[in-house]
Amino acid sequence: MDKFIIQGGGRLKGEVTVGGSKNSSLPIMAASLLAEGPSRIKGVPGLADIRHTMALLEELGAEVRRDGDAVDIEVHDEADSHARYDLVRKMRASVCVLGPLLAKRKKARVAMPGGCAIGSRPIDLHLRGLRALGADIQLSGGDVVASAKRLRGASVFLGGPFGSTVLGTANVMMAAALAEGTTVIESAACEPEVADLADYLNAMGARVNGAGTPRVVIDGVESLRGAEHTVIPDRIESGTFMVASAVSNGEVTVKNARMDHMMAVVDKLRQIGAIVETSNGGLEVASARRLEPADVTTQPYPGFPTDLQAQLMTLLCLADGNSVITEKVFPDRFMHVAELLRMGANIRKEGPTAIVTGVRKLVGAPVMASDLRASAALVLAGLVADGQTTVQRVYHIDRGYESIERKFAQLGGDVRRAAE
Ligand code: EPZ
Repeated sequence: MDKFIIQGGGRLKGEVTVGGSKNSSLPIMAASLLAEGPSRIKGVPGLADIRHTMALLEELGAEVRRDGDAVDIEVHDEADSHARYDLVRKMRASVCVLGPLLAKRKKARVAMPGGCAIGSRPIDLHLRGLRALGADIQLSGGDVVASAKRLRGASVFLGGPFGSTVLGTANVMMAAALAEGTTVIESAACEPEVADLADYLNAMGARVNGAGTPRVVIDGVESLRGAEHTVIPDRIESGTFMVASAVSNGEVTVKNARMDHMMAVVDKLRQIGAIVETSNGGLEVASARRLEPADVTTQPYPGFPTDLQAQLMTLLCLADGNSVITEKVFPDRFMHVAELLRMGANIRKEGPTAIVTGVRKLVGAPVMASDLRASAALVLAGLVADGQTTVQRVYHIDRGYESIERKFAQLGGDVRRAAE
């Protein structure tokens, strides 16, 4: 297991390039199970979660090969439709093979994902959507066992107590692509990753309209062919570097960051006093003064993303006054709070809300990563704290950020990887 040793203090300056979106790549790779013939997905980041997905697709009979930033996928053997617990346990997103397997192979057995550090994470909406398309779904031995002769288009409502579901929308969309007739998903997730998946499905010959809005209409087709597709840039990696620039009073151009995907983040950064501008092929974030506090509520897209809540909390720990952060997507996603307290932050948690009172400085300390984005928040805290911070269990970070230490080094940050 590796850890990061971080010397805090400097302003981050320069240019950094973000990679392709992890959360686009995962369902898009799963969608390749629907195709006849080879697919090539480009811009796929080199992350642990991607390697897990490649291993899962291989278990499911696909030949999967990485070629630079592209991944080639072709299914040769459809006999095995079982996504086993040891892989699903490592990565919840494995659940998005359920829709493609069911639609293409008429059956699927997928281990039920458990909870994780950010909450309980049920999949009831995925199952409800697939049942509406006519799937028979049972639970057996911790697995979801699903079958259907041929799925039938239907009206599906995917709203839940915390908004829609991103991977649930992906699952139903993929299944509906090969269903007989028309499916209408109401209260679909609007995340750009859902629209990206629809673009890939359409390149494969599917007929998906409205993705990126709450109403997606899918006219089922008889078969899909392999296709080539380039995934969108990772908006959460983009946002992480944008927040890093602001909190360090830096001046960073985040290349590939897309303004149209980052509106809520840009709005919040401007509100707290950072300057954000489009700059050739990306977004530039600069700040030269103590930042203002803010009230932030995480929401489904286009609201402020839960995946940047922890990083923004690090920033607000150093703002001039009281901020209120309310988590409306994963109400228990606050594992970073206790670690930030170890670094001298002043945060009080009340249910799904954290009240953050800005302090003059954070102080380096040994801290523990608990999940992907919480870990990123701790790295940001380490970069601006006085003295040395060690972040243990950085395998969490490696799930979602490619070479984050190298990218921070490019900006003048001192983050070294060492064996624990
Ligand atoms: C996706 O997870 C992302 N993962 C998450 O990113 C992200 O935090 C999340 O969407 C929200 O934006 C991938 O894309 C691989 P949801 P997903 O289903 O789809 C509740 C990261 O750090 N819900 O949209 O699993 C759920 O509990 C990760 O990269 C139900 O109640 O999230 C939550 O409160 C972590 N029933 C809310 O909906 C269901 O059947 C949104 O979850 C499904 C979800």
